[in-house]
Amino acid sequence: MLKPNFKEAKKRTKDDIKVLRNEYVIPDDVKNIGKNKKYFIKTYGCQMNEHDSEMISAILEDMSYTKTSDYEDADLIILNTCAIRENAHNKTFGMLGRIKHMKQEKPGLMVGLAGCMSQEESVVEEIINKYKWMDFVFGTHNIHKLPEILQEHVRTKKLEVNVWSNEGNVIEGIPSKRDSKYKAWVNIMYGCDKFCTYCIVPYTRGKQRSRMPEDIIDEVKDLIKRGYQEVTLLGQNVNAYGKDFKNTDYKMENLLSDVAKTGIKRVRFVTSHPWDFTDNMIEVIAKYDNICNYIHLPVQSGSSRILKLMGRRYTKEDYLKLYNKIKAKVKNCSITTDIIVGFPGETKEDFKQTLDLVKKCKFDSAFTFIYSPREGTPAAKMVDETTLEEKEQRLHKLNELVNKYSKDANRKLVGKIIPVLLESVSEKDENMLAGYTDTMKLVNVKADKKYIGKIVNVKILDAKTWSLDGEINE
Ligand code: SAH
Ligand code: SF4
Ligand code: F3S
Repeated sequence: MLKPNFKEAKKRTKDDIKVLRNEYVIPDDVKNIGKNKKYFIKTYGCQMNEHDSEMISAILEDMSYTKTSDYEDADLIILNTCAIRENAHNKTFGMLGRIKHMKQEKPGLMVGLAGCMSQEESVVEEIINKYKWMDFVFGTHNIHKLPEILQEHVRTKKLEVNVWSNEGNVIEGIPSKRDSKYKAWVNIMYGCDKFCTYCIVPYTRGKQRSRMPEDIIDEVKDLIKRGYQEVTLLGQNVNAYGKDFKNTDYKMENLLSDVAKTGIKRVRFVTSHPWDFTDNMIEVIAKYDNICNYIHLPVQSGSSRILKLMGRRYTKEDYLKLYNKIKAKVKNCSITTDIIVGFPGETKEDFKQTLDLVKKCKFDSAFTFIYSPREGTPAAKMVDETTLEEKEQRLHKLNELVNKYSKDANRKLVGKIIPVLLESVSEKDENMLAGYTDTMKLVNVKADKKYIGKIVNVKILDAKTWSLDGEINE
């Protein structure tokens, strides 16, 4: 049994980050373990987790499992979890409650826990003590070891806990079964060294490690060959890409240009920490047409005092300066953000500063959250006297403002003709298709299914808060 350890997970040594290329192997005796069996993966959390689930899918299919979208039909269930806020935790434990009943009726059912919650000491203790009926737990660092973990479980028939808390290496060669045929997630880096005081990610994902540029470019070229139109470069703080390389000063701006030069139709990247956003990056984004005019730029708070307590290392003024620079240099750039309300010690005045910043920026949209204390992080020990009721009121007020600006931004597009990558049948109407503009606006379009997978000009007819309606304009 290998349990997670926060003290180890927090460590950042100067040791070299290794790129390991031959770590993914499937032992012969588990190659057919999934024959005539179905798997179901439930994914919580961010894009990185979604992409991890695509890898877990491919690994399971390499062991002869087939996918099902109905968990009640599955022989193997994996919950790929998120630890970012308390409600993510609660959702996972709620789901485990439901699965427990299933397991009583279907004893052959295998159930595993993966993702960021697996990296938390308290969660793994709870699983060991109260969820003994589960079959295996693995973490974010050893996805590629899933075949061996299953092999061990089959041998011992006991709960197999195998979670690493090292700083992490870069593992190449893990297959991926992507959910979309048109747009793809591409990891460019793992982990995070920022240690914002509220955030669990540096503990659950390890040290910042950038993938080698050649590996990323090769992956993008291969995606183009297979008909992909769009890639999203993924990292917790993509602007810091390359900062961990020792013998080269290849940075995010270099990677962005090189990815743009492959000729892929659309390049996106998430998430950008304002701190590492360089002028050169802005130039590159402005220069290449296929780099989308869309930047997710989390601000977290509009109060410089709170930003300091959060360890974000920029002030409200720094953020506004960067924001305005991007808006001035990148034409029609859409900028979205993340905001936390109710951070320990946030006063009414601090919150007013957040509202003021939102009024100045008029974000295209924003993800807003009530602060959730995460065990093991510095902020969890800070004094927090604001009541939940007050925090909820602040959130509500913030959302009203954010939504008003989202709708305003959408309204400005009515009557315009904009290219949209149509990617699926619309969730709200099966006669419509849904897709995104390069500025990441969701558009529902009355169109024939033959357009799925294509970038088409769409005339925008109507604007809602979270989406647009349009028609094909060829
Ligand atoms: N790496 C990204 C953020 C990843 S987490 C960045 O720095 O921009 C996504 C968002 O969750 C964060 O931007 C933050 O707004 C929110 N978040 C993180 N920890 C949180 C916590 N403890 N409570 C509430 N929201 C949190
Ligand atoms: Fe968390 Fe900050 Fe790292 Fe983002 S940059 S993942 S908020 S520690
Ligand atoms: Fe959640 Fe882990 Fe992503 S905590 S937001 S799944 S990095």
